[in-house]
Amino acid sequence: MTPQERLIVALDVESVADARAMTATLGEAVSFFKVGMELAYAPGGFDFARELKAAGKRVFLDLKLHDIGVTVERATRQIARLGVDFLTIHAFAQTMASARQGASDGALKLLAVTVMTSYDDADLKEAGYACGVEDLVARRARQARAERVDGLILSPLELAAIRPIAGPDMLLVTPGVRPAGADVGDQKRVMTPRQAVAASADFIVVGRPITRAMDPAAAAKAVIDEIAEG
Ligand code: C5P
Repeated sequence: MTPQERLIVALDVESVADARAMTATLGEAVSFFKVGMELAYAPGGFDFARELKAAGKRVFLDLKLHDIGVTVERATRQIARLGVDFLTIHAFAQTMASARQGASDGALKLLAVTVMTSYDDADLKEAGYACGVEDLVARRARQARAERVDGLILSPLELAAIRPIAGPDMLLVTPGVRPAGADVGDQKRVMTPRQAVAASADFIVVGRPITRAMDPAAAAKAVIDEIAEG
């Protein structure tokens, strides 16, 4: 993979028109985009995902599926028909096994979300869990591997602990990345692109440091240079 192929830009915008303007601004600088719930559920959101694919881009649909097994399997099959590259699901064994069935031909890569990074130990206790975040992330990473999920979404600070559990082949994809010297914003636990790649991230997800930059294409190129150093 080239350094450019490792960068996924999060299109966290409210309309297809805004997303189209951003992808036009970025041009050839970026080859992989993340379409989250806000954009996917906007009018024309899924058609836009197809449009990106038709333009030769790679697409990560961040929909975080979680439902009864049969629904997850059938929904995953529909998403696979869109021809996108990555889909997120929650890391519950039943959800992962069902999504695997729905994406059985392997073209759509499934990424499991272990524990939302907005949750801390107190949130898990409140929800009735007897363990903390670290233990639950490790447990779910093991289950994801057992269910033959293709990869995991995780905080860059979890990479070192989780790579040995995930093994060499699972794709580790991390948001919470901030270019050296950039504004951290509302992200609390961050690494630079260089650090994240050095810590074994396969892909990094960057949103606002690129999309809200004065020159987004230049900001993307700077991140790609940092990935290359890592
Ligand atoms: O703008 P920023 O670089 O913070 O965007 C990061 C992207 O990754 C956003 O789409 C955000 O929703 C997503 N994300 C995250 N942290 C997680 C999971 C997803 O920042 N734990």
